[in-house]
Amino acid sequence: MNLYLRLLRFSYPYKTKLVLAMIFMALCSGAKSASAYLVKPVLDTIFFEKDMTKLYIMPGIVVLLFIAKGIFEYLQAYFIGYVGQRVVTDIRNLLFFNMQKQPLSFFDKTPTGSNISRVVNDVALVQSTVSDSVAAVLNDIFTIIGLIIVAFRMEWKLTLIAFIILPFSIYPIVSFGKRLRKIGLNIQQYLARLTSFLHETITGQRIVKAFSMEKYENNRFAGENERLFKLMMKRIRVRALSHPVMELIGGIAVAVIIWYGGYQVIIGKSTPGTLFSFMAALIMLYEPIKKLNKENHNVQQGLAAAERVFEVIDRQSEVAEKPGAGELGAVEGRITFEDVSFRYEDRMILSNINLSIEKNDVIAVVGKSGAGKTTLFNLIPRFYDATKGRIMVDGIDIRDVTLDSLRTSVALVTQDVILFNDTIRSNIAYGVEPDDNSLLEASRMAFAHDFILKLPKGYDTVVGEKGTRLSGGQKQRIAIARALYKNAPILILDEATSSLDAQSEIEVQKALENLMKGRTTIIIAHRLSTIINAHRIIVIDKGAIVQEGNHSELIEQDGPYKRLYELQFKEGARKKVIPLGKKRA
Ligand SMILES: Nc1ncnc2c1ncn2[C@@H]1O[C@H](COP(=O)(O)OP(=O)(O)OP(=O)(O)O)[C@@H](O)[C@H]1O
Ligand SMILES: [Mg+2]
Repeated sequence: MNLYLRLLRFSYPYKTKLVLAMIFMALCSGAKSASAYLVKPVLDTIFFEKDMTKLYIMPGIVVLLFIAKGIFEYLQAYFIGYVGQRVVTDIRNLLFFNMQKQPLSFFDKTPTGSNISRVVNDVALVQSTVSDSVAAVLNDIFTIIGLIIVAFRMEWKLTLIAFIILPFSIYPIVSFGKRLRKIGLNIQQYLARLTSFLHETITGQRIVKAFSMEKYENNRFAGENERLFKLMMKRIRVRALSHPVMELIGGIAVAVIIWYGGYQVIIGKSTPGTLFSFMAALIMLYEPIKKLNKENHNVQQGLAAAERVFEVIDRQSEVAEKPGAGELGAVEGRITFEDVSFRYEDRMILSNINLSIEKNDVIAVVGKSGAGKTTLFNLIPRFYDATKGRIMVDGIDIRDVTLDSLRTSVALVTQDVILFNDTIRSNIAYGVEPDDNSLLEASRMAFAHDFILKLPKGYDTVVGEKGTRLSGGQKQRIAIARALYKNAPILILDEATSSLDAQSEIEVQKALENLMKGRTTIIIAHRLSTIINAHRIIVIDKGAIVQEGNHSELIEQDGPYKRLYELQFKEGARKKVIPLGKKRA
C-alpha cells in the first residue's frame, strides 16, 4: 500500500492534469453507464408502448452518447498518459541521479548489468503500471461505480444479491495479485542477472574468444534463460488460473439473477425492460471487474519493479557530504593522514597510516602488488572513506568540505585507464571547459599530440567504448593529458606510465617533472626511473608504511626497499621494461 502511495505522490506536481484525467474518466464512465440505462426506455417505450416519436429520438441519443464517450475517452487517455509518462521520466531521472551519488563501494558490490537493468527493465515496468494500468484501474473503478448505480436504480434487491457475490470475486483478485507480485520480483531479479551476464560476456568477448569459452558461456546463458522461462511459466499458470475462476464467479452471479429476476417479471413485479437494463449493467460490469483482475496483475508486476527502483533511490550514500559542508577553496596541497585505517567489508586493508606530505612535494609510493597503494590514495578524493582516523588537505578534514570542491583539487590518472566513447577532445577536457590552447599543451606534454594528429579525425576521433580503438600506451597518454589539462594542485599518478615503452616513458617522465613543479604529486610506481627522483619514497607492505626516505637513504638501510631494489629495480633497470611487483604478483 505504501508503494502505491509513493508512486501516487510522484504525480503530485501534475495534479491539475491528473484531476482533468479523472474528470474525463468519470464522464466517460457516466456515458457508458448511461448506455446501460438506455436499455430500459428503449425496450419498454419502443417495444411495449410502441411510441413512434421516441423511436426517432432514441437513436439520436445513442449516437450523441457515443460521440461524447469518444471525446471523453480521448481526453482522459491523453491526460493520464501525460501524467504517467512524466512520473516515469521523473523516477528514471531520480534513479540515475541517485545512482551517480552512490560511492564506489556500491558499484563494487552491484554488477553493472544489474544497475543497467534497473534503469531500463524495472523502470519500463513501472512505466506500464503507472501510465497504463493506473489509468485502466481508475477507469474500471469509475465504470463499476456508474454501473452499480444503474443496477441499483433498476433492481436494488438483485444488486444486493450481486454484492453478496462480489467479495468472492475480490478475494481471488487479491490473492492472485499477491502471488504475481512475488513472481514479478523474482523475474525482475532474473532479468537483472541476465543483463549482468550479458554485459560481462559482451565486454569480455576478447577473453571469451581467447580461451575458446563460447560453448561454456552459451551453456551458462542457456541455463539462466531456462530459469527465466520457468519463472515466466509460473506467472502464466497463475494468470491462466485466475481467468476461469473469475468466469465461474460471473457465471454463478448470472444464474442467480436469471432465476430471481425472471421470477420477478413473471409474477409482474418488474418489467422485462428493467430486467434487461439490469442485465446489461451487470454484463457490462463484468467486463471492468475482469479487467481489474488483469490490470491488478500488471500493477503487481509494476510494484515489484518499483520496489527494486526505490531500493536504489532510498539508498543513502556512505560517502556523503555533511550538511552545510564548506568549500575547500584554493588549495596549497598539504596532505596529512592521521592514523588512517581502512577496510573493505571485513577485510582490513590499511592500518594506522600516518603520513604528511608538504605542498609541492613529490612522493613515490612502492610496494608489492596488493599492498594497498591504490586503496590508500583512493581515500584522498573520497572514493572511499577511511574506516578510522582522518585525512586532511591544508589542515582541513576532507569530510568537512563539499565533494565537488575536494575533487576539483585532485587530478588523477587511474591504474586502469577509463575513457568514454567520445572524441579525444572531450575525453581530455572531461569535466572542464574545452580550451584549444591548453588542450594542445596538455596533450603535447603527455606525448599524445603526435599520435592524435595521425588518427583519422585527429582530436575529433571517437575512441570507442573504454577507448578500445587506441593502444594501451595511447590510452594512458590520453589519461595523462586529461590529468594535466585539469591543472589541479594535487596530482595522483597510479602507475600512469606502466604501458609506455622505455623511450616514451622517459619523455613523459620529463614532461611530468615540469608539471610536478608547483603541485603536490603522488606517484605510485613500479619502475626505478620514476622513483629515484622523488623527494621521498614510501614503502607500503600489507597496508602499513614500513619505510620512508629518499632513494640514497633507503638503499643504505637493510630493509624492504633494499630487497625490492635488488630483486626488481636493478633487473628492471637493466631490461628497462619489467615492472616491479608485477612479477611477484
Ligand atoms: N573494491 C575492492 N573491494 C574489496 N577489496 C578490494 C577492492 N579493491 C582492492 N581490494 C583489496 O585491497 C587490497 C589492496 O589493493 P590495492 O589495489 O590497494 O593494491 P595495490 O597496492 O594498488 O596493488 P597493485 O600494485 O597491484 O596495484 C588487495 O588485497 C585487494 O584484494
Ligand atoms: Mg594499485
